[in-house]
Amino acid sequence: MELFDCNLPPLKKICSGKVREVFDLASLGLDEQLLLVTTDRLSAFDCILPNTIPQKGFVLTQLSKFWFQKFSNLPHHLLETEVEYYPKALEPYKEQLRGRSMIVKKTKPLPLECIVRGYLAGSGWREYQEKGMLAGVPLPTGLLEAERLERPHFTPSTKAKDGHDESITWQECQELVGEKVAEKVRSLSLELYQAGAHIAAQRGMIIADTKFEFGFLGEEIILIDECMTPDSSRFWSAASYRIGENPPSFDKQFVRDYLQSCGWNKLPPAPVLPEEIILKTAEKYQEALERFSKN
Ligand SMILES: Nc1ncnc2c1ncn2[C@@H]1O[C@H](COP(=O)(O)OP(=O)(O)OP(=O)(O)O)[C@@H](O)[C@H]1O
Ligand SMILES: [Mg+2]
Repeated sequence: MELFDCNLPPLKKICSGKVREVFDLASLGLDEQLLLVTTDRLSAFDCILPNTIPQKGFVLTQLSKFWFQKFSNLPHHLLETEVEYYPKALEPYKEQLRGRSMIVKKTKPLPLECIVRGYLAGSGWREYQEKGMLAGVPLPTGLLEAERLERPHFTPSTKAKDGHDESITWQECQELVGEKVAEKVRSLSLELYQAGAHIAAQRGMIIADTKFEFGFLGEEIILIDECMTPDSSRFWSAASYRIGENPPSFDKQFVRDYLQSCGWNKLPPAPVLPEEIILKTAEKYQEALERFSKN
C-alpha cells in the first residue's frame, strides 16, 4: 500500500512536513505522545513531488528504528513501532500504519538541524571551494571533493519554516539556543555520528554526513525525528568511494538528475517522474535498508 497523505480521524494532525504526518495522541488520553507517520512522499529542491516512492516510508521508519535500538543508551523519542501494541483506537488504521509509523515522546523541537560531516561533500564542499572553510571554520588547503575530514565537524543550520534552512556558524548556534544547549547537542550529534559511522563501516557503507534533530522533554534534551536514513544522510558505498569524485549516493540522485535535465524551473508544481526513475529510486532506498539491517 502506498501512502501520499494520511488522515486518521478523530486524531488531530499537528504537522504535515515534507515527508511525515504528525498526530497528537492527547485525544486518546496520551498527552505526552505523538504518532509519526512516514509517507512515501519525496521532496527535491524543497518541493514535494507528485509521485510516491514505493516502500519509502517503510524503509525510513525501519532504518530509524534500527538506529534508535542501537542507541538505547542515549535518550531518544521512540516508544513503539509495532501496530499490534498501539492504542485500540488506532485499530482501524492498522494496515495503513504498519511498518511506517512510530509512537514517540512529544517534545519541544529545537530550531536546529544538527548536521555532522565526516567527509567534504555537497554544500560543505561548496563552502570549502569558495572560502576554504566549513561552517566558518578554516580547513587545511588542498583538500579534494569527498575527502575524509581529519575529524567530523558539527555544521548546524537553522530549521526554517519555509524549508530553506540556512547554515550557521558555531557562534550563531550558541546565540540561537544558548551555550549549554549548543554544547550538548554538538557532543550528542558527534557521538551519534561516530557510532553510526563505525556500524556503517562494518557493512561497507560510509555516512558522509547526516542530520539529527533534538527536542526538549521537560529539561532533558532527547533525539527526535528520523535517524540516519537516506533522506537525512549522504550514504556512500565504500566499494565505489574515490577521493576527488562525487560518489554515487543512496539518496535522490536519480531524481535530482532527472529534474535538472527536464528543464523544470524548480518552482511548484514539480513535474511527474517517469516510472523508471521512480523504480530506480525505490531500489536505492530498499538497498540502503538491506545494507544496514543485514548482520
Ligand atoms: N518527538 C518529537 N516531538 C516533536 N516534534 C517532532 C518529534 N519528532 C519529529 N518531530 C517533528 O515532526 C516533523 C516531521 O516531519 P518531516 O520530517 O516531514 O519534516 P520537515 O521538517 O518538513 O522536513 P525535513 O526534515 O526534510 O526538513 C518535523 O517538523 C520534526 O521536527
Ligand atoms: Mg524531517
